[in-house]
Amino acid sequence: MAVDYTTRDGVAVITLNNPPVNGLGHSTRAGIVEGLARANSDPAVSAIVITGAGKAFSGGADITEFNTPKATQEPTLHTVIKEVEKSAKPIIAAIHGVAMGGGLELALGAHYRIAAPGAQIALPEVKLGILPGAGGTQRLPRAIGLEAALNMIVTGTPVLSEKLANAGLFDAMAQGDLLDEAIAFARQAAGKPGPHPLVRNRKIEHANAEGFLQFSRNTVAAMSKNYPAPLKCVDAIAAGVKQGFDKGLAFERECFVELVQTPESQALRHAFFGERAASKIPDVPSSTPTRAIQQVAVIGAGTMGGGITMNFLNAGVPVTLLETKQEALDRGLATIRKNYEAQVKKGKLTAEKLEARMALIRPTLTYDDLKQADLIIEAVFEELGVKEQVFTRLDEVAKAGAILASNTSTLDVDKIAAFTKRPQDVVGLHFFSPANVMKLLEVVRGKETAKDVLATVMQVAKKIRKTAVVSGVCDGFIGNRMIEQYIRQALYMLEEGALPAQVDRAIEKFGFAMGPFRMSDLAGNDIGWAIRKRRYQETPEIKYSKVADRLCEQGRFGQKTGAGWYDYKAGERNALPSKLVDEMIVAYSKEVGVQRRKISDEEIVERLVYALVNEGAMILEEGIASKASDIDMVYLTGYGFPLWRGGPMLYADAAGLYNVARAIRRYAQQPNGDAWQIASSVAELAESGGTFN
Ligand code: 3HC
Ligand code: NAI
Repeated sequence: MAVDYTTRDGVAVITLNNPPVNGLGHSTRAGIVEGLARANSDPAVSAIVITGAGKAFSGGADITEFNTPKATQEPTLHTVIKEVEKSAKPIIAAIHGVAMGGGLELALGAHYRIAAPGAQIALPEVKLGILPGAGGTQRLPRAIGLEAALNMIVTGTPVLSEKLANAGLFDAMAQGDLLDEAIAFARQAAGKPGPHPLVRNRKIEHANAEGFLQFSRNTVAAMSKNYPAPLKCVDAIAAGVKQGFDKGLAFERECFVELVQTPESQALRHAFFGERAASKIPDVPSSTPTRAIQQVAVIGAGTMGGGITMNFLNAGVPVTLLETKQEALDRGLATIRKNYEAQVKKGKLTAEKLEARMALIRPTLTYDDLKQADLIIEAVFEELGVKEQVFTRLDEVAKAGAILASNTSTLDVDKIAAFTKRPQDVVGLHFFSPANVMKLLEVVRGKETAKDVLATVMQVAKKIRKTAVVSGVCDGFIGNRMIEQYIRQALYMLEEGALPAQVDRAIEKFGFAMGPFRMSDLAGNDIGWAIRKRRYQETPEIKYSKVADRLCEQGRFGQKTGAGWYDYKAGERNALPSKLVDEMIVAYSKEVGVQRRKISDEEIVERLVYALVNEGAMILEEGIASKASDIDMVYLTGYGFPLWRGGPMLYADAAGLYNVARAIRRYAQQPNGDAWQIASSVAELAESGGTFN
C-alpha cells in the first residue's frame, strides 16, 4: 500500500508510504484521493492530516514515471490537489524531512501547513530540466512572495523549513512531535467556520512586479544558456501575475508538457539516476557488510596526495600524511594551508574551520605511524618500482583488514596488489586533479578486490561527496582510455587540415568546458608524450600522429612552460593562437605528404565525440564498465562533457546508433581511418535500432 489511512481523535491521518522518499507515483496519488473521499464521508472525522512515513513528507512526482503512461494516468497530481482544495473538512499538511517538487505542491494545496524544523523545502524541478507542474509556479509566489518564490523556483535550491517559518508558507512550526501537533492543529481548525483558506486565493503583492519579472528574465536568460527550463519558470510565474491563477496554472501545464520532452530534461534526469545507479555494483548487494573507516592515511604529499587529504579533512576524518623527506612534507602541508586560505579569503570558510581542519592532519616520515589507519591511499610517483616499495612496506605495517588503495592513473592495479600478500584488500582510487575539487572518483576493481572493500570505498566516496564509478583494470581505466582516442582524433585532424584553435572552438561550442588542446596545455603536454613513448614500445601497431611529439621536442609542455599548443603571456592563462605552432603543423602535414583540407566543425565534433562513444562501447563489451550510464557519469563529472547532453553514450543514443555507425564507417575510409575499428555493439545496435541506455 502506498498510502496508509488511520484515524485519531476524530482526525483522519493519510500517510504517504512509498519508500524511499514517498514519490507521488500513480498508486500514491490514487491512495490519497481514496483517503480524502473516505475521510470526507466519515461523520466521525472532522479534519484531515496528510503526512509522510519514514524520512520524508514527499520527494515529489515519481521521476521514474516520466514519459510513461502512468505519469498522466488519473488521478494526476492536479486532480489530487483539486480534491484537496475541494475538501469541506480542513486539510493540514504535516511536513518533515523533505518536501520537494510535487510534494511541496501538494502541501501548498492544503488549507494549512505545519512543519518540523530541519525539513528541506524546494521546488527542484529545474534541476531535472522541467518546471513545477502542479501549481508550484502559481502557489509559491502567493505563499511567500514573488521574489523569494522566483529565487527558489529558478535555482531549485532547498531551504530549511525554519528559515521559512515566518515567510507565509507555514501556519505553525512543530515544537515537539509533528503528528501530535498536526492533529491538535487539525482539531482546532475543524472548530473554525469554513471555507478554509486556500493559497490560490491569496494575492501576489509586489510594488513593481512587471519590472522585477523583466529584470529576472534577463538575469535568468544570461545564466541558463543551453537550459530552457529556468526561463520557462519565469514565464509561468509571470503568466500567473498578469493573467491570474487559473490562466497561470494552464500555462504552467503547457510548459511542463513541453519541457519534459526536451533532450535537456532527458539528459538531466539521466544524470540524476546515473549518479545513483553508479553507486550500485551488480554483484555487490547493498547488504554487503562494510569496514569501519575512522582513520585514513595518505602517502605522498604532492599534487594529488594533498588534494586527497583535503577531501577527508573536509569530512572531519583525521589523516596521517606520510612523505619521504621533511621538506616535501612541509611543502605539501603549506599547499594545503594555502588552498584553505584562499577559501577563507573568498568567505567560503572561517579561519577557525581552517585551523580545525589543519589540526586533523598528522604529518609523519615513518611507516610505523600508519598502523592504525583503516584506509591508506598511495599517491607517490607514477613508477611501478616506487609503488612496489610502498606496497611491500604497507603489507608489513598496515593492520589486518586495512584497505590499501592506489591513486595510480596508468599502472596495473593487479600488479600493485600482487606486491602484497593481501590482494583482496587492494583497490584503485583514481582521483582527478585538483582532487579536492573534482567530483569524479574512479574506483578500480582489481581481479581479487574483495566485495566488502568495494562496498566500503563506495560508502567512503559518498562521505567525501564524490561521484564514484567502478572501473575494471585496463590501461587508462574508463575515462583516460576513452580520452586517448579523442586526443588521437584531435591530433589527426591537425595533420589533415585543422588548427588547434579551430578544434577547441568547435568542441567548446558543442559544450565541452575545454577543447583538447587547451586541456593538454593545462595538464602538461609531456604527460601525453610519456604515454605515447610507452605505447610506441608496447603497442607499435597502434598509430599516432607525431605532430604532438614535435611540439614537445620544442619544450612546449603547456602553461607550465609558458608555451604549448598556444602562446601564453607571463602569469596569464589566456590561450593565444601561436603562429609558430600553426606553421609547424602545416609544415608537418607537408612532411608526411598530407594534402591539407578544410575540416568542418561538424566533422570535428563527430570525430571527437564518436571516438569517445566507440571506445566507450568497447569498454562496456569488455565489462570494464558495468553500464552505459557509468561511462556518462565519468564524462559528466570528470571531463567537462556538457551536462545538458547527458554524456557520450546518451548523446549517441539520441543521435541514433545507425547514424553513429555510418559516420564511423565513413571516417574509417578516410586517411588515418585505421584508428576507427567499429565496436561490435555499435554495429549491432545500429542494426537492431537499440540504444545503450
Ligand atoms: N522520484 C523517484 N525516485 C526518487 C525521487 C523521485 N522524485 N527522489 C528520489 N528518488 C529515489 C532515488 O532515485 C534513490 O533511489 P535508489 O535508492 O533506488 O537509488 C532514492 O530515492 C534515494 O534518493 P537519494 O539517494 O537521492 O537520497 P537522499 O536522502 O540523499 O536525498 C532527496 C533525497 C533529497 C529527495 C533526493 O533524492 C532528491 O533531490 N530527489 C529529487 C527530488 C525532485 O527533484 N523532486 C521533483 C520531482 S519532479 C516533480 O515533482 C514534478 C512536479 O512538479 C509535477
Ligand atoms: P607529485 O610528484 O606531485 O607527488 C608525488 C609525491 O610523492 C611527492 O611529494 C614525493 O615526494 C612523494 N613520494 C615519492 N615517493 C614516495 C615514497 N616512497 N613514499 C612517500 N612519498 C613519496 O605527483 P602527483 O601528480 O601527485 O601524482 C601522484 C600519483 O597520482 C601518481 O600515481 C599519478 O599517476 C596519480 N595521479 C595524478 C594525477 C595528476 O593530475 N597529477 C591525476 C590522477 C592520478
